[in-house]
Amino acid sequence: MIVLGIETSCDETSAAIVKNGTKVLSNIIASSKDMFTKSGGVIPEEAARQQVKCMIPVLNEAFSQADKSWPDIDLIAFAAEPGLTGSLLVGTTTARTLASVHKKPIVGIHHTMGHLSSVWLDNDNQKIEFPVLALSVSGGHSDLWYRTSHCKGELIGKTRDDAAGEAFDKGACLLGLAYPGGPAIAKKATEGDESKYDFPLPLKDDDTLDFSFSGLKTALKYIIRDLNGYKKEIPHLAASYQNAIGLHLLKQISRALKKYPKTRQLHLVGGVSANQHLRSLLEKKLDIPIRYPVKISYCTDNAAMIAAAGYFLTTKPN
Ligand code: KG4
Ligand code: ZN
Repeated sequence: MIVLGIETSCDETSAAIVKNGTKVLSNIIASSKDMFTKSGGVIPEEAARQQVKCMIPVLNEAFSQADKSWPDIDLIAFAAEPGLTGSLLVGTTTARTLASVHKKPIVGIHHTMGHLSSVWLDNDNQKIEFPVLALSVSGGHSDLWYRTSHCKGELIGKTRDDAAGEAFDKGACLLGLAYPGGPAIAKKATEGDESKYDFPLPLKDDDTLDFSFSGLKTALKYIIRDLNGYKKEIPHLAASYQNAIGLHLLKQISRALKKYPKTRQLHLVGGVSANQHLRSLLEKKLDIPIRYPVKISYCTDNAAMIAAAGYFLTTKPN
C-alpha cells in the first residue's frame, strides 16, 4: 500500500511517499525555521504564508524522488490536528483538494500519532514489540503513552505546563541562543560541565507520571540573574539545564516502567528525541530496549510519519 503523507502543523511543509507504513520512498521537508531565529519562535502568519508557497513544489519533489505518479497512490494521510490553524489549513485544503481531484481515499491524522509511528520508518533491523512505553517529546507536547498495538494505547502522563521542546526553546532564549533552542543548547552543552549548576527535580514528591518544565526555566532565569555576567558560563548553563530536563524525563519514565512491568520496549520520539545527551542518559540508566526513529529527520516534524500512521490506522486499527 502506497501512502502520500502531508504535514504542515508548524513551520514545516512536508510531503512523503511511504510503502506499507515503513519503507520511505521520499520525505521532502521545507522548513521556514531560519526565518524565526531572531524572533525566538514561530510567527504563525509567516509560517502559513511560506507553506502556501512551498506546498506544490514539495509535493512535486516527493513524487519525483519516489518515482511515483498519482495512479500509484492508494491513500492520502494528512496532519489534521493539533497545530497552528493557518498552517494546518494549508495541508488540509491541499489534501482534500487532491483527494477530490484524483478520487483517492483520505485520512486525517493526529500529529502525535504520527510521531508515535515514526520508529517504524525504514526500521529493518530492530524488532518492535508491544506493549511499549512511548515518550513523545516535541515543541508542543510531552506525552507518555502505554501502547498495546499500533492504534491502541493509554495516555498515562503529560506536561502540566511547558513541553520539553518548549523548555529547550525558552531556555535558549534566556541564554541568547537561536531558535530552535534544542539543537542550539545541545551544541553549547558539548563544551560544558553538566554538574556545575544545580536545578530542582520537578514533581519529585508527587506520585504522578506527568511532567513539568516551567520550574526549570524559572530556575535558569534566576541563576542567570544572580551571575555577574553569564556569557562565558553559557556552555555550563546549557549542559546543566539540558541534563536537568533529561533527569526529569528519566525519573518519570522509571516510575512508569515500575507501574507497567509488562512493558517490552521504550520508544522515544518527537523533536527532543534527537537529543544525544538524553539518549545516552536513558541508555545508561534504564534496563530496557530503547527504540528511536532511525534518522534525525524522522524525529522532528515530517510527512513520512504521517503516512505511516495513515497506513496503520487503515490496515491495523486494532
Ligand atoms: O517534533 P518537532 O519537530 O515539532 C513539534 O511537534 O513541536 O519538535 C520541535 C522541538 C523544538 O522545541 C526543538 O527545540 C526540539 O524539538 N529539538 C531538540 C533537538 N532537536 C529539536 N531538543 C533537544 N535536542 C535536540 N537535538
Ligand atoms: Zn511534532
